[in-house]
Amino acid sequence: MAAPTESPKVLVTGGAGYIGSHAVLALEAAGYRVVVLDSLEYGHPEILERHTQAELVVGHTTDRDLLDQLFQAHDFAAVMHFAAYIAVGESVREPAKYYRNNVLGTLTLLEAMAAAQVSRFVFSSTCAIYGPPKTVPIPEDHPTNPISPYASSKLMVEQILRDFDQAHGLKSVAFRYFNAAGADPEGRSGEDHVPETHLIPLVLLTALGRRESVSIFGSDYPTPDGTCQRDYIHVTDLAQAHVLGLKYLLQGGQSQFINLGNGNGFSVKEVIDVARQVTGRDIKAVFCDRRPGDPPMLVGSSQRARDVLGWDPQYANLQDIIAHAWSWHQQRHG
Ligand code: UFG
Repeated sequence: MAAPTESPKVLVTGGAGYIGSHAVLALEAAGYRVVVLDSLEYGHPEILERHTQAELVVGHTTDRDLLDQLFQAHDFAAVMHFAAYIAVGESVREPAKYYRNNVLGTLTLLEAMAAAQVSRFVFSSTCAIYGPPKTVPIPEDHPTNPISPYASSKLMVEQILRDFDQAHGLKSVAFRYFNAAGADPEGRSGEDHVPETHLIPLVLLTALGRRESVSIFGSDYPTPDGTCQRDYIHVTDLAQAHVLGLKYLLQGGQSQFINLGNGNGFSVKEVIDVARQVTGRDIKAVFCDRRPGDPPMLVGSSQRARDVLGWDPQYANLQDIIAHAWSWHQQRHG
């Protein structure tokens, strides 16, 4: 009788973070074994401990010795790389921090992968690399024009991935996220950044009475109601796309750059209105000046994700996204 084959093992960097922890849940549900590498600077290890079988290694992607040890100790089929700093405003003030962690950390990881002959890589990129859009919905061949060090750091890694494919045959899927939002529908994980800068958590913290009001940054944008439009994509759909991207690579797929959005734009005002309906609470909103660096409208075409990966988002409406986030926030902060 043939020996039972073990399921593939995946290294997930940043697996204790918001999107990474949802990816760990999705990977385990799909039968993969997971080792998480996370610095725990922002991560939430208790989510992994409570809800996953993943082994957690605490450390940085800039630590080459640690990476070499990990690749020696485990037979990884692939790496999913979420570990990165994500605050656009902070990146403008402290660019070195972003280039060191996001570019140097990723380069160190890719070098360790090449040395260990691990050649499948799923990467968290961002729609921020496009800059202010010339066409909406934004396709993947839209020109790139990053306007923050955060976005530049992600675009630099995309170039490194092209070069590593050519030099080392490293195959990757770089996912360009639009606005990740929502929480695990079963309530196991959700969004909890400190400090929080993202719209939906701030709106819900206001609904919970933990903040007095939410600021609306700008009401004179060239959009239907004057407030910025974004493409909010449920984090569980995002995680599912990563599992599909991994399968695609393990089946011999070529490198790809793929948007992950749901193709619908919602304005800041619409988000607040839906949150009022979902929570049944009066959420005080205050109009403020525009926030520097915010494009009026960011909405992505997800055609390539559907065509190449067969991705089919399950929670495309804003009500579901906010309802799941609300359950999480009530449980976490209520
Ligand atoms: N907004 C407010 N008030 C707030 C917070 C946000 O009006 O208190 C607005 C913003 O101006 C923006 C929208 O809500 O129009 C969404 O803002 P978020 O901060 O939630 O998200 P961003 O669109 O700024 O950022 C997201 C990701 C980044 C990524 C970026 C690409 O979080 O990682 O999209 O533009 F780089």
